[in-house]
Amino acid sequence: MSGWALLPLRLFLGFTLLYAGLLKLSDPNYFDATSSSSVQSQMFLAIKHSPISFLVSQAAEHATLAGLAIAVGEIAVGISVLLGVWSRLGALGGFLLSLSFFLTVSWGTSPYFFGPDIVFMAAFVPLILAGHGGVWSLEALIRARAMRGSGLAARPIAQVAPADLAVVDRRVLLRTGGVAVGAGVLALLVGGVARTFGGRSPSESAGGAATKSPSPSSSAKPSTSPSAKPTAASSPSASASASAKPVGTKIGAATDVPIGKAFAFDAPDGNPAYVVQPAAGTYLAFSRVCTHQGCSVDFTGQEFQCPCHGAVFTADTGDPISGPVQSPLQRYQVTESGGSLYLV
Ligand code: FES
Repeated sequence: MSGWALLPLRLFLGFTLLYAGLLKLSDPNYFDATSSSSVQSQMFLAIKHSPISFLVSQAAEHATLAGLAIAVGEIAVGISVLLGVWSRLGALGGFLLSLSFFLTVSWGTSPYFFGPDIVFMAAFVPLILAGHGGVWSLEALIRARAMRGSGLAARPIAQVAPADLAVVDRRVLLRTGGVAVGAGVLALLVGGVARTFGGRSPSESAGGAATKSPSPSSSAKPSTSPSAKPTAASSPSASASASAKPVGTKIGAATDVPIGKAFAFDAPDGNPAYVVQPAAGTYLAFSRVCTHQGCSVDFTGQEFQCPCHGAVFTADTGDPISGPVQSPLQRYQVTESGGSLYLV
C-alpha cells in the first residue's frame, strides 16, 4: 500500500527533475557566460546573499562544470525516481540538490514558503526513507527475475542463505547499473539534440529588449573621477544633454535604446542591468536583480517582471507594483553624451 501511496510523489518529482535537467542542457543560454540567465550569472547573483557564498564562489570559478553537474544530477535523480532504480540514493541526491537551491536561489525568500525548493526538500524525504515502495519499479522487477533465475523465488526471504542473496544482489546491482547508465546516456543525447536544434530562450528576447550580452564576471569599476563629474549628473532624474562631456562608464550607444525599449548591460557593480528610454531623450537605468530573491527581471515594454515569483516593477521608478516584494529595483544614474550612454 505504501508503494502506491508514494507513486504520485515519485511521478511528480521524477518527471520534474528530469524535465529541469533536460531544460538546462537544451538551453543555449545556460552555459553562455554572457547571458543573464546562465548558470554563471545565477551563481554570481547568489554569491551576494547566500549563506554558503564561500562555496558558491568556489563553484562559480568552474561554473560550466558545476552547471553541467547540476543538470546531469537532476536527470539522474529524475530517472532514478521515475524508474524506481536506486530510488533511495536518487531521492537523497534530489534532497541535496534542493538544499543547495534553497541555500542559494531561494535564500531570503520571505515568507519562506514562497520558495519552492524547501518544498522539494520535504517531498524527497519520504522517498529517502521508503525508496520506490516496490510499485512500478524496474529494480523490483529485476530483483524478482534474479530471484527466479536463482531458483529462490518460492522461498520466503528469511530462509534464503546470505550467500545466495549476495549473488542476487550482485546481479541486481549490475543490471540496474546498466539500466541507469543507458537511461542517463539516452537522456543526455536527448538534451544534446534539443540543445543543437533549440533557439535562444524566450527570456532573452522578451519585451523587445535589445540584449547586449552582460558578462557576470565583469568587475569593471566606474571610471568616474570627482573632478570629471558634472553637477547635473548627480540629479536623480539624470537624462543629460548631448552637450555634456563624457563621464562615467560607457554602456553603449544611445541608438541601442529606442524609445519604449530596453538595453541590457553589465553595471560596474557586476549586476545585470537595463537602461530604458521611456520618452525621447530620457534614459533610466535599473538593476535587473529582483529585490525579492535575486532572479533577473525582464522588460515587457511597459514594466519589469520577475519570472521567478511574479514580482512587477514600474519602468519609470523601479518601484514594486505587485508580487512578493517591498523594495524597488536598484537605480543607476545614466547620462547621454555625444550619442553614447554613460553610467555615472
Ligand atoms: S525573485 Fe521572487 S519575485 Fe523575483
